[in-house]
Amino acid sequence: MIEAVKTNANIFQVGAKDWDRRLFDELIPLPDGTTYNAYLIKGKDKCALLDTVDPTKGQVLVENLNQLKIERIDYVIVHHAEQDHSGSLPLILEIYKSAKVVTNPKCKEMLMNHLLIPEDKFITVADRETLSLGDKTLEFIYAPWVHWPETMFTYLREDKILFTCDFLGSHLAQSNLFAIDLGKVYTSNKRYYAEIMIPFRASIKQHLEKIKTLEIEIIAPSHGPLFDKPNYILDAYREWAADEVKNEVVIPYISMHGSTAEMVKYLIEALMKRGIIVKPFNLSRTDIGELAMALVDAATIVIGTPTVLVGPHPAAVYAAFLANALRPKLRYASLVGSYGWSGKMPEMVTAMLSNLKIELLPPVIAKGFPKAEEFNALEQLAEAIASKHKNDPLVIK
Ligand code: FEO
Repeated sequence: MIEAVKTNANIFQVGAKDWDRRLFDELIPLPDGTTYNAYLIKGKDKCALLDTVDPTKGQVLVENLNQLKIERIDYVIVHHAEQDHSGSLPLILEIYKSAKVVTNPKCKEMLMNHLLIPEDKFITVADRETLSLGDKTLEFIYAPWVHWPETMFTYLREDKILFTCDFLGSHLAQSNLFAIDLGKVYTSNKRYYAEIMIPFRASIKQHLEKIKTLEIEIIAPSHGPLFDKPNYILDAYREWAADEVKNEVVIPYISMHGSTAEMVKYLIEALMKRGIIVKPFNLSRTDIGELAMALVDAATIVIGTPTVLVGPHPAAVYAAFLANALRPKLRYASLVGSYGWSGKMPEMVTAMLSNLKIELLPPVIAKGFPKAEEFNALEQLAEAIASKHKNDPLVIK
């Protein structure tokens, strides 16, 4: 379905909603589906398509362009080479044979590699270069490392619209073009930020700074709802990307025979007694997007795992790998768990957290079921966490 981004402005959303998709990259859960937003801008002299759609939805894009009776596309602006936005580019270039692909040199190289687009199809643009459609001016803004190195934005000067591709977007299919239920949209955007952008927090901060001087009326990402009150999502991103963390402990854990679960249960209450927000995730049934979201703000992570064979449970390995790969703002980490006869598990888990700039607090490990000694150690661990949070200027009280 075609959606007007702005009344009487010749700017249309011509992409596709994917209501039923439940997994991205065969990894990331999509509880609310997703959208692949693509935008058509009809200028007085030239016509530009901003991004395409996932290859599974190419025909939806083509039908939308047909409905608008678009016979000629002069430019296809590509903000990001990942296939959920670029995958229908070969189809579009096949239909609109005179169209040129406008992008930055890095993205050009990636499109040639991934989609085999011929070199003579490209026009490359520099950071802040402009392209006129007659009565509309597109300004290209480099924004590398939204989560790939080639990403960029387009600012449509006359209409004050910033097209941001993945940045400020969300995996949320809804019938409204614009954000309506702000609580829902906040959660979906945070989930998306958590799943792919946490490792690039420094770049995200730079992008926010770079667009600060633009006068923006509409933010139009390539996933999820658009924003006609831009500060809502910009402020949220500023908070997520800031250095400060919250007085929160995330506990991803798994238990086979109940020993680790008993320790986690005790630790949760010991932390709660000290006024700390605790977010436990039983890894046997956790949505990893929820876990990633909790890692955006938390000051501390405590991983809970029993010993399987001679090492941590594979589910705990996955959680440790995820935390290490996402590189969240965490300040402290620890470990609780149990073993039967091999005691090497703690070193194996902590060695997996080498990317994190954390202070490691003494783990609490029980031989078999926890006893008074371990419960006492858990009390001390809760106290140590509370004390660290209290005295750390980066922890918001
Ligand atoms: Fe929505 Fe990074 O692609």
